[in-house]
Amino acid sequence: MSDPILAPALPPLLQGALTPEPTADGSFTLFSEDFGEWFHSREGAYTEAYTTYVEATDLTQLAQADALRILDVCYGLGYNTAAALATVRQVNPQCRVHLMGLELDGRVPKQAVDAGLVDRWLPEIQAMLAQLAEVGQVNAPPLQAELRLGDARQTIQTLAEGGFQADVIFFDPFSPPHCPELWTVDFMGQVARCLAPQGKLATYSCAAAVRAAFLEVGLHLGPIAAAGRRWPGTLVRWSPDGLDALSQQEQEHLQTRAAVPYRDPSLQDSADAIRQRRQQEQAQSGLAPTSQWRKRWL
Ligand SMILES: C[S@@+](CC[C@H](N)C(=O)[O-])C[C@H]1O[C@@H](n2cnc3c(N)ncnc32)[C@H](O)[C@@H]1O
Repeated sequence: MSDPILAPALPPLLQGALTPEPTADGSFTLFSEDFGEWFHSREGAYTEAYTTYVEATDLTQLAQADALRILDVCYGLGYNTAAALATVRQVNPQCRVHLMGLELDGRVPKQAVDAGLVDRWLPEIQAMLAQLAEVGQVNAPPLQAELRLGDARQTIQTLAEGGFQADVIFFDPFSPPHCPELWTVDFMGQVARCLAPQGKLATYSCAAAVRAAFLEVGLHLGPIAAAGRRWPGTLVRWSPDGLDALSQQEQEHLQTRAAVPYRDPSLQDSADAIRQRRQQEQAQSGLAPTSQWRKRWL
């Protein structure tokens, strides 16, 4: 990790803004009233960006290449992007980075900058985050970055149609029960169109419904063991190369009704409609009830 994490000093509050809360490593997160959830792990927001996304995708190694394409799905405060750019800058400042961020709410990255929540990144990374939040683009070779605002279910389609192929995808929506629309087989299918043949996608979630959706679109996956976390994340690729095997517990989880995925064929349904569709599919499923799995493993 390149940036020292300093003792927390509470940033100033914006009027009408979400309240910043310190996490265990001293970096700040926000709570979303809309989704009823924190933006980051309370165990450390900056730490999560490094362990779950940068380290899991082996970005230090990938950044040795001449060029690197990164897709940050659910850009939020920009921490995952910042950790990635800080890493590239450290290991290979000449690497040509093409970064795409997708985010619903443009107020979030702006608030992160205005409230000083990004102040612990290197000054040049802060400047890039500020420009992305303000004008949505950075063209400063070797870095080219863009932040596309809107529902990722739509913006991902434009990106895929434009042929964007990511070497690395950071997949960081709110959790499946709170934001099912970004964990559906249908949305994953669009995200998969943007994953390069040798690319890697990392997410913090190990939910069986999430893993089943990745598998249904033809991807392979393995666990990401993250220090200090009870549950592993998930690393996803087109081929099984370089993926660790799922444990017996994880494999059996995929044989239960928890593994019935979310679906959203039109990529426009409400969260409630998507949750209800899954409940109906679970009720008709021949898979074992998840309670038996829980009794055996938890
Ligand atoms: C868990 S937070 C992401 C945190 C972020 N990766 C970071 O490093 O700060 C989830 C983000 O998803 C965004 N979001 C929610 N629904 C979305 C949608 N349909 N399309 C795009 N972004 C969405 C939220 O506004 C929020 O910023």
